[in-house]
This record gives sequence, C-alpha cells and structure tokens, in this order.
Amino acid sequence: MNTRSHFICKFLRAFVAVTITIGSVTVSPQAVAPLSRPAIVDPLNDPAIEARVSSLLRQMTLEEKLGQLNQFSGGAPTGPSTGRTDYRQMIAAGQIGSLLNVTGAKETNELQRIAMTRSRLKIPILFGLDVIHGYRTTFPVPLGLASTWNPDIVEKAAAVAAREAAAEGVRWTFSPMVDIARDARWGRIVEGAGEDPFLGSLMAVAYVRGYQGARLDHPFSIAACAKHYVGYGAAEGGRDYNTTEIPERLLRDVYLPPFRAAVDAGAATLMSAFNAVNGVPASANPFTLDQVLRREWGFRGFVVSDWTSVKEMIPHGIANEGATAARKALLAGVDMDMEGGLYLNDLAAEVKGGRVPMKVVDEAVRRILRVKFALGLFERPYVEESAGGKGLDPAHIELARTAAEESFVLLKNDARSGQPPLLPLSAGVRTVALIGPLADSVGDMRGAWAAKGDRKDVITLRVALEDFAAKRQMQLLHAKGAEIVGGSDAGMATAVDVARRADVVLLALGEDAGEMTAEATSRAFITLPGLQEKLLEAVAATGKPIVLVVFSGRPLALTSVVDRVGAIVQAWHPGIQAGPALVRVLSGEANFSGRLTVTMPRSVGQLPLYYNHLNTGRPAGKVDLTRPPTRGEEKYVSRYIDEQNAPLFPFGHGLSYTRFEYSPLTLSAQSLSARALNSGSLALRVTVEVKNVGGRDGVEVAQLYIRQRGTSVARPVRELKGFQRIALRAGESRRVEFTLGEKELAFWNIDMKEVVEPAAVTVWVGPNSQSGSYGEFTITR
Ligand code: BGC
Repeated sequence: MNTRSHFICKFLRAFVAVTITIGSVTVSPQAVAPLSRPAIVDPLNDPAIEARVSSLLRQMTLEEKLGQLNQFSGGAPTGPSTGRTDYRQMIAAGQIGSLLNVTGAKETNELQRIAMTRSRLKIPILFGLDVIHGYRTTFPVPLGLASTWNPDIVEKAAAVAAREAAAEGVRWTFSPMVDIARDARWGRIVEGAGEDPFLGSLMAVAYVRGYQGARLDHPFSIAACAKHYVGYGAAEGGRDYNTTEIPERLLRDVYLPPFRAAVDAGAATLMSAFNAVNGVPASANPFTLDQVLRREWGFRGFVVSDWTSVKEMIPHGIANEGATAARKALLAGVDMDMEGGLYLNDLAAEVKGGRVPMKVVDEAVRRILRVKFALGLFERPYVEESAGGKGLDPAHIELARTAAEESFVLLKNDARSGQPPLLPLSAGVRTVALIGPLADSVGDMRGAWAAKGDRKDVITLRVALEDFAAKRQMQLLHAKGAEIVGGSDAGMATAVDVARRADVVLLALGEDAGEMTAEATSRAFITLPGLQEKLLEAVAATGKPIVLVVFSGRPLALTSVVDRVGAIVQAWHPGIQAGPALVRVLSGEANFSGRLTVTMPRSVGQLPLYYNHLNTGRPAGKVDLTRPPTRGEEKYVSRYIDEQNAPLFPFGHGLSYTRFEYSPLTLSAQSLSARALNSGSLALRVTVEVKNVGGRDGVEVAQLYIRQRGTSVARPVRELKGFQRIALRAGESRRVEFTLGEKELAFWNIDMKEVVEPAAVTVWVGPNSQSGSYGEFTITR
C-alpha cells in the first residue's frame, strides 16, 4: 500500500462516516446544529465530476481556458495593488476564474450573476478570502490556536469559520498556513502552528477537516488552501520574502510534512510561496510543485500562486519578461495566477507559439474546474442574502472563549517567600491596577487577518475585568501608561500612581497586531516594543506584585523583564473573547492548559532557535553556560561567549494551577526489528501513568519525544512523536498509552529513502521538551 492510501485508510478507520443530504435550497448559517466529525471522502477523485469537467473542457476556447486561470482582488488589496478594476467586463468575457477579497452575500451574488448569466459558458466564480482564524467570529490567532494542543477545538473553530464564510458566498479560504517557523523575527510565525512538524501536521489536518467538512459540496463547506508551499518560514534572517536554503532531507523531514498531511486529508488547494528554495522560486519550482506534490503525493487539487508571485520571477531573476515568468510558473505546476495578470496577458502567445503545450493548460483548467464542481458551485452558485446581518451565534462565541482559554500559556507563576503564587488572584485582593496599552485595545485583540471580524464583538480585558470587579466588590483602577510603539512617557506617572494604590498589578503589554504581526512585519529586535519595558520598570519599582499578560504574535525575548514580575501569561492575540477568557483563568475559575509550540528565546542572537535541533560534535555537555567561559573550563564547545544556549522557556512548556507527576515508562518491548517496523506490522507501545498531585482539577498535555542514535544521518536531540491532552481531577491518575511505529520512527536516510533504520532510541514522556520520564529500546536489523 502506498503511503497516501495508507493515510486515507487510517482516517477512514478512525472516523465514522457521516452522511449529509443536501437539498437544493440555501440554508441559513444558524440552522445546522452540532459540528459533527466529518468522514474523509475524496471529492477530487470522482469519475462523475471528471466526466463533467471533460465535457466542459471540450467546449472551451483557449481564451476561456486561460480565463479560468486568473484570480483578481475585487476588494481591499492584500498585497501591492495592481490597479485593475474592470472585473465586471472581464467576468462577462470569461476572463476570470476566481476573485479574492469580495465579501458579503449581496456582493458575491452580484458578481456571480454576471458569470452565470452573461458569460458564454456560465462557469461560476470561486470567491476566496483569507479566513485565517475565523470569518465573523474571531478566534485566537493560529499560533494561539496551536498552543491549545487541541486539534479538536481547531477543527471546530475552522468549521464555524467555514459556515460563516460560506453563508456569504466565500467558498475558499487561504488557510491553513502550515509553514514551519523556527525564527521569531519572522512576523508570519503568528499565522502557523509553530516549529514542530508533527504538531503542525495534526493542526493542518484539523483545519482541513474543519473547513471542508464531510463533503465539499455541503453548503457550509469551503475549500482549504495549505500555504505557503514551501519553505516560506525558513526565510534567511527571519526577513519576510527572503531566500531560503533548505537541503532536501530537511525539506522532507521538517517543512514538507504538514503539507503532506493537508494533502492526505483532502485539501483541495495549495498556495505556492514567495521565497526561492535553493535558488528556484517556489512559484516556479518543478521539484516541489511537480515532482513532490503531483508525482509523489498524487495531489489532484489546484495550486494558486501567492499575490503576484508569478510576476515576481522577474525580480527573482529567472525571467526577463512576463511571458517567461508565466510559462515557467505554469509549466512547474502553478495553476492559477493571483493578481498578477500574466496568465491572462501572456499565455495565449506562449501556447500559439508552441512554447506551452495545450495539454498543460488543459490540465490546469481541469484541476480548477474539478474543485468548482466538487464544491457544488454549478448547482448552487448563489447564497441566500437574508441570512446575513444577524448577530453572532452564541455557540460560536462560547467556542471562541473556550479556544482562547485553552490557548493561554502560563509561563511563570512563582511562589513568593511564605506566600502562594500570584495566580490565581486571591480572594483577598481588594484593588487591582490594570495597566498597559493592550488592556483595552479592541483592534489588537482581533489579531492580524481578522477577515470580517467586527470590532463591536470584542470584549477586552478591561471591560471583562470591570464586570468581574463589580461582582466581586473589588476595585479596578486603569491606566494606559504607554503606547505600544512610540509615544511619550507622559502617562507613566499616572500608571505608577495607580500601581501604588493597588494590591496587585496586571500589566497588559505586547505587540500591535496590525503593524507588528503577520505579513511584512519582520522584527530585528523582539523585545517588548516602544516604551513598554520602561513602563514595566517604573511599575516594578513600586514593589507591587505584577502579573504580566503578553499579547503578541510571536514569542518575545522577555529575559530582561522575567525576574521583575511574579507571573507571566502568554495570551497571543486571543480574538473576540479575549477579556472573558482571561478573567476566567486569572481568577482561577478556569485552569491554564496551553503549552508553547514555539521555543521562547532569551535573545534575538540565538535565532533560529528550536528544540528539535541536531547535537553537533561538540555539545556543551556539562559546561555551565549561565556565565561567560572561565579559565580552565573546556573552551571548544558549541556555545556563545555572551549568551546561554538554552531558551527562556522551552517548546512544550506551560504551567497549571495544579501539578502532575509521571510514573516511570513501560515499553512493550526492549528491541524491535527495523524490517518488521518498515513493513508496518509492528509497533512499540509506550505506557505511563500521569497523576494530578495538586489540589485542583486540571488538564495535562503529556508529550512523547524520541531521540535516535547510531543512524546513517544525525537525528535531532528530541522529536515530538505524540501527545495527549488529559483532564484529571485533583488526585486522579490515568494510564496514557502511545504507539511508536513506522510513521513515527522513519526518516529520510543517507540514501534519501524514508525508512526505519537500526538505532538506539531514547523515549521521553513528560510535560515539555526538556524533561520527562524516559526509557530506551533498540531497533535491530
Ligand atoms: C499572502 C497570502 C494571502 C494572499 C491573499 C498574500 O500577500 O502572502 O498569505 O493569502 O496575500 O490575501
């Protein structure tokens, strides 16, 4: 069995099929009740659809075929504007296959009507949008959603987003972003699941399943788009759009797996990236787009370029004019040109001149039409207009709150001499000072790429705390203190005064979502921006206990502030329910359960920094890296002379109001044969008992890591290969079982084969990537 069918069979076995009957009427978004677990069906491999595509293709002129390959932005541009606006005539002339950035039922219907009534072949328009963490109901940003370590809630959030988008005619999202990011300078780290390919793959699957549902042609399903294919997150120096150099083994081991997982889960589309991979731009890269994606993985959906990324072959330097750029991109496997207009203007001459075979054009058109048929667009091109304008569904709000709660990571909560930790806020706290520019900032709570998220749906920390304070007869004082960036120190004196009058200070600091996170927002310094550190210092000088709540789209270097505060909560940009969710965890009504999916560096000079690195031939070993090298100590080790190697907080880290203990591990065997593992007939069972030994109920994320030694190529010091979120009442314990089989143990070896090799393997199960119970086993020939 090839790996693709292996994956699909696994999914089919794991989930029960759900049959949904689809009527010809449009259904309002609130009408369909529970978010059911969809079954995987492969709508891109349906003989009935193929027959319809073939018949339509036979009727199309070259111009009409090329028309399907174009996408333009019919709304607010999300990239450099190309100034084109004559879309209505173009749709009528059959020159547009897709529009992005058009929202609203009335607006999509109106443009669709032109395609369906005035164009010769009446091929519906596919409307696409960046529905990244919600459409109208704004969930936490994707890095926050990943921090839940809960693919289930991510799938539900994606399903809500799909339902709301589809109701307005948007049947295609440019999500999930599955780029692995190992460098916090890169602003787009916020859009993905972090640095780990295993977790990133599970999140990729969760999004695809949530968006696409059981059937793509369900009126509430939208097509997913795994992006940015590929390697975009490896931009040199963390500078957006920059070059990447990724050896094939690293590409296959780390950067490709989440895309593979998305494809295997049925993702209908992929987006090609801006960056060059090993000298060949990703949007005209035959190796990644054709060899890997089509030939090896059998992908049958279509690939859209990123915004003008076809045209960008010219500045990249692999084309001197539009025609060459268009030809190279199409021949490599980019089916649709986003906003560039080159496929529209230049491909006809390339085909007529014999430089682009008609069968390549036909194949691109086929892939696009396949998705349009699979979505049921030909049967239901329009949406019901009266469905819009309603308020948010209470169930969606509730899900947004739970997702936010689970996304928060309690980084630090130290017990103070003779007193309990600062959090949860004790009942004895009478006056709280809420200080900082993020305390009441509606726009920043929504996060980057907020789609149709409405400012009026957002509840900030300040508003939620006011409510809480009124109920608890607690006094809440508030001062902004400083701007996020820029501004003066004029507000600091008030902030300090407010702090002096309080029992506890909550400091809400961090990054501006719009200006400092997502696209084109790389930072060379990743500390708290502007005057915020100064504000923190001034407040800390009062001696009042401080809880720091960090709202950011990347892990910040908090080294200089970590010792000045008693507790730190990493809150990301949490979405519409930011305030209520935070109040629940700060007050102890809910417990923290989020864990880091990115390593938090001590300083920018450590970047790129990630837990699953190789060991080097001269690891620091027992050398004390917390101080500069000293005489007599081993000098020739891999270290900095002025910074530690260790992060401030490791991947997987996150505290709780309770404590968990892990028993020693039990392995089902001490030795397994590589041959049996490679045939898929054998797996190792790893069992551990996790106990809640604290005084409160809580959720632990038990994480399984491995390290393999003695292999043909060096393997990482740790690799995540399993995790489970387990809810345990105070005092409760549970046996947790993991399996390590072919899928977990295989890697790309020295002959570039994905196999399990003989090895000595260490296994850890524990609360983060730096600790845990461990055991050893051997893989023999
Ligand atoms: C971004 C993509 C996005 C597209 C459409 C581009 O600039 O890189 O992630 O999907 O614009 O808005």
